[in-house]
Order: sequence, then C-alpha cells, then structure tokens
Amino acid sequence: MVRRRRVGIAISGGGSNMAALVAAARAADYPAEVALVVSNRPDAGGLAKAAAAGVPTAVVDHKAFGDRQAFEIALHAEMVRHDVELVCLAGFMRLLTPWFIESWMDRMINIHPSLLPAFPGLHTHARALAEGVKLAGCTVHFVRHAMDTGPVVGQAAVPVLSADTPETLAARVLAAEHRLYPRCLALVASGRAAVVREGGTERVAIAAEPPPPEAFVWPSRD
Ligand code: GRF
Repeated sequence: MVRRRRVGIAISGGGSNMAALVAAARAADYPAEVALVVSNRPDAGGLAKAAAAGVPTAVVDHKAFGDRQAFEIALHAEMVRHDVELVCLAGFMRLLTPWFIESWMDRMINIHPSLLPAFPGLHTHARALAEGVKLAGCTVHFVRHAMDTGPVVGQAAVPVLSADTPETLAARVLAAEHRLYPRCLALVASGRAAVVREGGTERVAIAAEPPPPEAFVWPSRD
C-alpha cells in the first residue's frame, strides 16, 4: 500500500491550485493526503472550497500578529497540530522568514507562474509580455531564502500568443499549473524527487522509482 504523506497547503486567495491538489489526492494510489488547508486571509475563497471537499481548514490571520515571526510561529504550530510532513504553498502571498524556511527545508514547495529563473515576483505575465518572450509557463520548486528561488521539481511551458493580455496568458498558465502541481507533489511525496547538493549548487534529481521506506525517513517537526 502506498505511504501517504500528510500535506499542509497554505493559500491566500481563490485556491484553484489547492483544489487541484485536493482532487489529485482523492486517488487511492496518490502518495499524499491533504491534512490541512490554511490561509493567512480569513476571506480567502479557497477556504470554502477546501471545507466543501471535506478538508480541515484553519485561518492564521497575519494581521492579528505583531510581527512576521509571531505569525509564522502560529502557522508552524497549526501545521504541527495536523501532523503535516510537507508544506505546499499555493498562491500564498506572504514572504517567509529564514526561520520558517529552515524549519521546512526540503519539505516545502511552491508554485510560481513563470519559467523560473525568469520573471520571479509579482506581475510576471505583464513582464513576460513586455519582454516579448514566446514561451511562458510555471515552475514548482523547493523553497529557499530568496523569493521564487530554489531547486526546480518541475516546469510546464505554454505558448505566448500575439494577442495575449496578462489576463489571457495568466489563464493559460493557470491551467498548466493545475496539471503540473499534482505531478510535482507526487514526485516529492513519494521520495522520487530529492535535492542533490554538489559543489555548492543544488538541484532536484528525479528517480525512476520511489526509494524503499527505510531509506526515506523525514524528521519530525516540533
Ligand atoms: C497562481 O498563479 C499561483 O501560481 C500564483 O498565484 C496564483 C494563485 O492562484 N502564486 P490560486 O489561488 O491557486 O487559484
């Protein structure tokens, strides 16, 4: 039987990527289950979607905390309370401190709507159109200290069409995100995707098969 890793998904908005992960995790042989959907915004539309899908939800409202670290301590505690082993950021719009990133090193992935390292940060689609690139896409990566950096788990490309606006391009990329993120989470949760460090650089190696359970031990988070 497949070992299902417990995943906490952090959102800030509509949560369509979150919904794609929840849908993928319905398959019995998917190597992850969604243990928690947590939002930093009480009004995030994704919370109702998650609850309707029967997934536990929580709100950790960043505005209720005096500083970024106090917010993150509460966010971390919510993850631990739900026995989360792996964090997926899915449209989560808060910058994370080194403390949170170190706490989840190699156990936290993010999706960004560009072919990183091109166009990190906000307004990616408008910037891609302004540059005149002919391919756009999305990237799932392990989270590192600098925003939208980290070893790449997977990418999907889509064409940029001459009539595109930031909105039409975003919609095409978002459809690709919904296909890419579940595949990448499966690779990470099964242990097939692992960070390899060599000569001061790091990258993700994808194994053909998952490792045996005894070779794939994750530290507990507390
Ligand atoms: C997605 O494009 C995601 O890559 C970006 O914000 C958007 C969130 O969409 N970071 P959703 O909340 O998953 O619908």
